[in-house]
Parts: sequence; structure tokens; C-alpha cells
Amino acid sequence: MSNAAITVLQGDGVGPEVTEQALQVLRAVEAVYDHAFVFHQGLVGQDAIAAEGAAISDATFEMCARSDAVLFGAVGGAPSGRADGGPRPEQALFRLRKEFGFFANLRPVRPAEPMYGASPVRPERLKGTDMVFVRELSAGLYYGHLESVPGKPSGIDRTGPDPKAVDTLTYTGQEIERVVRTAFGIAARRGHRVTSVDKANVLSSSVLWREVVEEVARDHPTVDHEHMLVDTCAMELLRNPARFDVVVTENLFGDILTDEASVLAGSIGMLPSASLGVRRVEGGLFGLYEPVHGSAPDIAGQDRANPVGAILSAALLLRHSLGLEREAAAVEAAVEEVLHRGYRTPDVQESGRTVVGTRDMGRLVRDTLAQA
Ligand code: IPM
Ligand code: MG
Repeated sequence: MSNAAITVLQGDGVGPEVTEQALQVLRAVEAVYDHAFVFHQGLVGQDAIAAEGAAISDATFEMCARSDAVLFGAVGGAPSGRADGGPRPEQALFRLRKEFGFFANLRPVRPAEPMYGASPVRPERLKGTDMVFVRELSAGLYYGHLESVPGKPSGIDRTGPDPKAVDTLTYTGQEIERVVRTAFGIAARRGHRVTSVDKANVLSSSVLWREVVEEVARDHPTVDHEHMLVDTCAMELLRNPARFDVVVTENLFGDILTDEASVLAGSIGMLPSASLGVRRVEGGLFGLYEPVHGSAPDIAGQDRANPVGAILSAALLLRHSLGLEREAAAVEAAVEEVLHRGYRTPDVQESGRTVVGTRDMGRLVRDTLAQA
């Protein structure tokens, strides 16, 4: 029996409603498999800014630190541009990712066969698609503004007649190595193929990235690897998605390519993610689990959001942080079964399918889990 502590941060927009369904699925897992998880709730994003003055307060952060895992919804409001001014909801994510050392963001993309019709990509191209993105998550352009290099690495200089903006892309060898090792480790347990994505024909950070990949590859003789330029990868993802097994890339490339890859699964609402570092907890690695989609304020509170990405994120939590592989697989099987029976949220609606809301989708998954 697991008594793991899980901090739940629902966040903004559709975050609360999809996270609620993921939470209910974890409660169903408790009941079926006789666990007693301990849940804590905290504020994050816009509500935290309003109530506590920061996108994530120190108290909430400490609560996460004392947990085995964090289940995260979404943060963000209407796009407001980049911030020179007050706190932004996204800062909560950046703080969690950076301070907990979550350098590896796993984003599996495995379109279920009954979902093929929901993707604009033809079924014969989708067939066999089963890949995991390993996105570097704690360095690169996202963190240029935190580095202590001279000359303020990120910001806008408005002193001259023509304003000038700068962002800095830095990677150290170690920052590259740890995420690349994670990718090779995962590949060694699945399809034995790593595609490393970069822009080595232009960027110095990518030249270093390739050198490190070559070094790590020497330690993994059973894993094949290739280098692919990011623009080529953007094309190959739609042209021939089944060719990929494990794809490893830097932070911003990974952000962009995984949104693109989500169309293979029918909708970004379908995709889960796990953010992992090195800290061990009883069942595995301390981690943060969130759907790949954002806060989608335009559909918030309407029972229209797809909870599958959040529910599958809870499955990853069971697997990676709690060591409950059987339970994780059961949740994934329940989701697949519900999709197989033709239930769809509006984002992946097709003719001949039964459209359901966020809550009903969650309930169907729980019922299926309980019956299995
Ligand atoms: C993601 C999101 C975030 C990111 C945003 C909300 C800052 O797009 O997790 O992919 O860019 O990392
Ligand atoms: Mg993104």
C-alpha cells in the first residue's frame, strides 16, 4: 500500500476542471488497489498572484518539496506579452522546473488507433507511431534572464532610437549530458533509437549538443542514434511520424515540436507530460506531472476541456514517482477503452462518436477502471 503525498496545483483556466478529473482517477486507483495517498492543494498562477502576491508562494513551494509528486493543471491568462512588470502566472512553472531541477520533460506521443480519424494526418502515416519526446526543461532561452553573465542576457533596451531586444541561449556540457543520458536510458528500454534534434548548422549550443550526444552514445552500444536539424524534424514529424522512437532536444525546440506532434494524437488535450530530475522518493523520482495543453481561458468553466492529457499525466505520476506500474498501465488502458467505445470531448469530435464533457469523460475512465 502506498501512502505517497501528492501536491495538487490546479492553476488557471481549464486547469481546475481537468485536474479535478485526474484527481478523481487517482482516488479511484486508491479504492481499487488499496492505497491511501495523501493529497495537498495549493494555489498557483493567477489566483496565487491575487491572494499571495506571487505565481507560487514559498509556502506552496515547500509543500511541493515535501511531497512525492506534484500534479499540475495549467497556468496563464490572456496573452500579455513578456513581462518587464509584475508577476506572471508562468513564473510558477519556471520556478518549479528550475528550483526542483526538473531537467527532463517526457512527452509521450502514441496515438490510439480509434483516434486516427481525429488527426489531420492520414491514418496510414500514423500507423505505428509511438514516440517519447525528452525535452530539456531547465536551461536554454527560457532561463537566459537568470544567468549571471555580464550585459543582462535578456531584456529590451529602449534607450536608443531603435529599441533592441535580446535573449540568450546558453547550455553547459553538463546540462546537455544529463538530459541526453536520460533519453538514451529510455531508448534502451524501448525502441533502441534516439533522434537528437538541433540546429547545428547555425547555433554554437547545438554544436556542443552534438558533441555531447556522440560521447553519451559511446556508452550505449545497444542504442542507435541520429542527428536531425530542427526544421527537418518539424517536417518529418508529419511526413513519417512512425520513424521516431525517442527524440531529445533543447527547451524551446521541444516546446514547439511537441505542440506540433500533438496533432498526431488528434488534439493537444490528449498529451500528458512528466518533468523529472534526480531527487529520489520512496517509489521512484520526485516529479511534476501536467498536461501539455495550456490554460485555454476561452473554454474554461464550460465542461468542454479534454481531461485525457491530465488523466494520462496522473498515470505517469503513478509510474515514475510512486513506482505503481500496474496502476499506471490500468489507467492508460481505461482511457484507451473509453476512446475505443467512441466517447470524445469536443476537441476530438468526429461524426459517429459520442460527444461528452470534461466530467463525463473523467467518470467514464473511472468506471472503466473500477470494472477492469
Ligand atoms: C509548455 C508551455 C510552457 C512552456 C508555457 C506555459 C510557458 O507551453 O509547458 O509547453 O513554454 O514551457
Ligand atoms: Mg508548450
